[in-house]
Amino acid sequence: MHHENENDTNLPNEVQVGSARRRWMKSVIALTIAAPFAVMSSLFTSTTEVHYSTSISLGNVDELFATRNWRELTVQKQRVLAIKTETGISVLLLKCTHAGCPLKVETNNIVCDCHGGTFSMNGQPVSGPPKLPLVALESRVTDGTLYTRIFGGG
Ligand code: FES
Repeated sequence: MHHENENDTNLPNEVQVGSARRRWMKSVIALTIAAPFAVMSSLFTSTTEVHYSTSISLGNVDELFATRNWRELTVQKQRVLAIKTETGISVLLLKCTHAGCPLKVETNNIVCDCHGGTFSMNGQPVSGPPKLPLVALESRVTDGTLYTRIFGGG
């Protein structure tokens, strides 16, 4: 009686050749399916490449946050929110993550007039259509000055 065996070494030569051919065909099929995705992936990567500006000074930290823990600023024509919390300082892009509308900073939250979305002051979506937090720009404090880098710069 012949038992099915996953180990081809006990099978006659013709069966082993057929099995090798099947493995080769599977590889060809897998490559045929995978290749377009690899090409699309590389295209996507190249089109989403982001160029950041050099560091831009937003000012002295003590002066920025002298009267309250946040400041609305404009950096290279983009509105941002610099906010100081117990975990540090963040610089958030004031652009809605739902459909890109400009945002307003109100008392204790950030509001989008387009579809009524709201965000907490640390940029987390609170209500309405936005599901993603606000974009946090790269930032650092050096010698008491807050610096950020914004995309789209040279
Ligand atoms: S663009 Fe802001 S809620 Fe739709």
